[in-house]
Amino acid sequence: MLAGAAKAEVSAALLHAFETEPSEHVSEYQYYASEFPEPYLGRRQEFGRLFYDSLGIAQSDTAARSRQTAKNFAFFGAPVGLIVTIDRRLATGSWLDLGMFIQNVMLAAVGRGLQSCPQETFAKYHRILRPALSIPAEQMVACGISMGHPRERGRARLMPRADLEAFASFKGFED
Ligand SMILES: Cc1cc2nc3c(=O)[nH]c(=O)nc-3n(C[C@H](O)[C@H](O)[C@H](O)COP(=O)(O)O)c2cc1C
Repeated sequence: MLAGAAKAEVSAALLHAFETEPSEHVSEYQYYASEFPEPYLGRRQEFGRLFYDSLGIAQSDTAARSRQTAKNFAFFGAPVGLIVTIDRRLATGSWLDLGMFIQNVMLAAVGRGLQSCPQETFAKYHRILRPALSIPAEQMVACGISMGHPRERGRARLMPRADLEAFASFKGFED
């Protein structure tokens, strides 16, 4: 967990790497499938449209998109930043455990009036994070999380949710 000067130092190092050598930094794991099938591809494209529209950024404006991406490294101005790692010797099931752990952290934050944003972008910058945070060699950077007080409470959700029937089926509920 990072705050204050320690967070500022890490943010500055990441931002420098992002601005000067972005293609040199690659995640140690694959977040998206190389061939991203439907319906996921369409959902990701829809999210991109809604996200950049909400920020007033044209999809073709690569400079403005890059300035938005850069905000990741300052943890979007949140007072606390988390870097989440996982032991690389563990198998896929443990990533399920880690996802649930992260969600619990995020829900615990909500329970305390805080909000958070998970960010896989940090995984790309493990070569900067490892020495800066003394991350042991067996640990892989999975993601970061920004955490702080929400500016607005109860803000409308940006991304629509799929209908329940689109991802769940019900059997034996007739009676
Ligand atoms: C695992 C995961 C990784 C994410 N990584 C990033 C990221 O690196 N940068 C970013 O701006 N948003 C990222 N997001 C998206 C935001 O955290 C957030 O989920 C998005 O704004 C949509 O909000 P919603 O999930 O409440 O609909 C990620 C989301 C998830 C679930």
